[in-house]
Amino acid sequence: MRNKVIAGNWKMNYSIEESVKLISELKQGLTETDAKVIICPPFTSLETANALLKGSKIELGAQNMHNETSGAFTGDISASMLKSVGCKYVILGHSERRAIFGESNEFINKKVHKALSENLVPILCVGESLEEREKNITKDVVKNQLVVGLDSVSAEQAEGIIIAYEPVWAIGTGKTASPAQAQEVHEFIRSLISEKYGQETAEKVIIQYGGSVKPDNASELLSQKDIDGALVGGACLKADSFLGIIKAAKN
Ligand code: 13P
Repeated sequence: MRNKVIAGNWKMNYSIEESVKLISELKQGLTETDAKVIICPPFTSLETANALLKGSKIELGAQNMHNETSGAFTGDISASMLKSVGCKYVILGHSERRAIFGESNEFINKKVHKALSENLVPILCVGESLEEREKNITKDVVKNQLVVGLDSVSAEQAEGIIIAYEPVWAIGTGKTASPAQAQEVHEFIRSLISEKYGQETAEKVIIQYGGSVKPDNASELLSQKDIDGALVGGACLKADSFLGIIKAAKN
């Protein structure tokens, strides 16, 4: 049985003051749940978030990092820096990083290795664009992202990785993949992991869905056999809607 994992990707939103407000509301409103809950605020709010989350069930993640340990990488941030402010998770290969900042599968693979070597759990994002879906190459795209993204990752390491399937056409558009469409790709992802690492590992890997997840569509998505959680963008920026999605996450 895989417990659900609900993560909020705040993207480039919220000052420290606004972050304090949202985290306080989340802590106050969070009721008993079996789900793992993660928030990924912007870098500037991580230290404050870490202090506020002490003793709470909510865990902390970052939205990106560099694969190198330190050095001349202006504007970037390292795994050890993220750990020093309490991060346990890091989103890697988000489609916005791929599309806007030109991150390749090979670069993302280097980051995956760095995160693993520093005991950060990578949340590795994969997903096709609208054009790729229309061309019927969704599975080829996702397979390539996974094969290269997980290159030289061992089975033992793979067990601890979270994969997020985020169809690009569903991100921030209000167009969610239907539960059946999402389940089909999730099942395919699990089959690829099974091929590479064996069934036992594949059964342990968490595969989240992301793309316009809201409280009113979360239960149906999360009740699909291979959907183990959600990576939430817009709806994680308000306590009510993020808490509503967490409530929908039943095993
Ligand atoms: P939305 O929930 O706003 O569609 O964003 C999804 C996402 O990109 C999470 O990483």
